[in-house]
Amino acid sequence: MVEQAQGTSGDNSDYAAVGGGPAIASVVDVFYQKVLGDPQLAGYFVDTDLARLKRHQVQLVSQVMGGPVSYDGADLAQAHQGRGITGDDFGKVVVHLVDALEAHEVPGDIVGRVVTALGATQGDIVTAH
Ligand code: HEM
Repeated sequence: MVEQAQGTSGDNSDYAAVGGGPAIASVVDVFYQKVLGDPQLAGYFVDTDLARLKRHQVQLVSQVMGGPVSYDGADLAQAHQGRGITGDDFGKVVVHLVDALEAHEVPGDIVGRVVTALGATQGDIVTAH
């Protein structure tokens, strides 16, 4: 699954540094506004329960940032299988995530750790060329 991006948890975590749950929920809201506003990506999500998707993405991002939250959604390979997601799609999603983190003034070193942790999921998510 996805590794925690940083060894620390609790008060020293990246999760705490950026403002905890409310901050991450706001990042994830902005992230999906960008994804759903991107004509290359929006079509993938037409049948998706967005409330569930956001809840699970908040859990996942919180977990990789060392927060006191556990991801309880589907295995990432299973959630994305059969969707024909390309490496280019994946790169665009990562750019929207970076933009959403930067819009919340998350420091660059933390952004880098989140991208490294979530970027490592590419092999589970990308199934097309
Ligand atoms: C950093 C890369 C990515 C991460 C960390 C990620 C993470 C997730 C998570 C946590 C879920 C929720 C699974 C659940 O609710 O059980 C999900 C669902 C989904 N993801 Fe991704 N994802 C990534 C990239 C992508 C890309 C590139 C696409 C397509 C362009 C995509 C399309 C979808 C779709 C369509 C669903 C909804 C599946 C459903 O309706 O059940 N994801 N993703």
